[in-house]
Amino acid sequence: MRVLAIESSCDETAAAVLDEGAGLLAHAVFSQVDLHRVYGGVVPELASRDHVRRLLPMVEQVLAEAGPAAPGGAPAPVDGVVYTAGPGLIGALLTGAALARSLAYAWGVPALGVHHLEGHLLAPLLEPEPPAFPHVALLVSGGHTMLIDARGLGAYEVLGETRDDAAGEAFDKTAKLLGLPYPGGPLLARLAESGRDAGLRFPRPMLGREGLEFSFSGLKTAVQQSLERAAPGSLRPQDVAREVEAAIVDTLVDKSVRALEQTGYDRLVVSGGVAANARLRARLDAAVGSRGRRVYYPRLAFCTDNAAMIAVAGLARLAAGERDDLAIAARAQWPIGSLGVPGGQRAADGSPAAE
Ligand code: KG4
Ligand code: ZN
Repeated sequence: MRVLAIESSCDETAAAVLDEGAGLLAHAVFSQVDLHRVYGGVVPELASRDHVRRLLPMVEQVLAEAGPAAPGGAPAPVDGVVYTAGPGLIGALLTGAALARSLAYAWGVPALGVHHLEGHLLAPLLEPEPPAFPHVALLVSGGHTMLIDARGLGAYEVLGETRDDAAGEAFDKTAKLLGLPYPGGPLLARLAESGRDAGLRFPRPMLGREGLEFSFSGLKTAVQQSLERAAPGSLRPQDVAREVEAAIVDTLVDKSVRALEQTGYDRLVVSGGVAANARLRARLDAAVGSRGRRVYYPRLAFCTDNAAMIAVAGLARLAAGERDDLAIAARAQWPIGSLGVPGGQRAADGSPAAE
């Protein structure tokens, strides 16, 4: 089975072709960051319009790179089309959903709406040594921060999540205070590399406490106050960045280790944009590895939004016989705990899963 996957949930346009036997044949990502940077964040309407411009040429590109499905060229270039159906910006989601559903209809193949976060969770399955189930998943992106008990494909129980800002959001908001352009997370991480211990100490609200919840909104306030109170030129941005990163990483490491202890699992899977952070990776490897356990990550390119991860999730479900009807399914909100195992019943109204 071969699938075309489309991702358009936020500010990345992406397409990929994944073959059950031959693996990932092609993938492409276009990031809209330059378009949104002047506004300091993603402008939904601009995102949708840019997806409309770029999606079809990108689909043609990945299909050409993947080559014909069967020798001599099969009637359809793929056996199914999968797409991000949510959660995300509704207008942006609809651009990919409408294209994917229409292509599947025209080719006479099934279409399937995929949960964006299930895509992130399954991205490490594209690596040479994929993690087995069950495992604990730490999902850290710009919009989400959660610890998940992943018992099997589609069997996800949220163990804890953030009460306010997501980890990526905390990186981006504090980076903005330091004058870094949007999205500041990776830039703050780079700045932190040359930082020193300047005696700063930002709050780590949930650290050392029972439970698997996170809270990052106090960090932004603490950084803002430090910057306001400091005498001009007395606080080096690199040192602030270093302590911001340390506060976020300390919390993520502490809660991930707790989740492993609570579940008794020996595998931790880390995914989402913040999984690209080098300090987080080093600290998790040390903390988890030292307890005889192992951490799995997607390759850097598949930490942030991409269509290869949507292809993995979609292919697993299509291969299990899961199908959508002809409705164009997109939903801004979609709790991951409501996903069923592959091949399970879909909601009668055509939505990808029951609420
Ligand atoms: O998963 P993703 O591409 O998009 C969402 O679904 O949200 O994650 C993007 C987030 C942004 O907040 C970005 O600043 C953050 O991931 N990020 C990083 C790094 N690379 C990306 N944060 C810290 N260090 C990094 N190296
Ligand atoms: Zn994402």
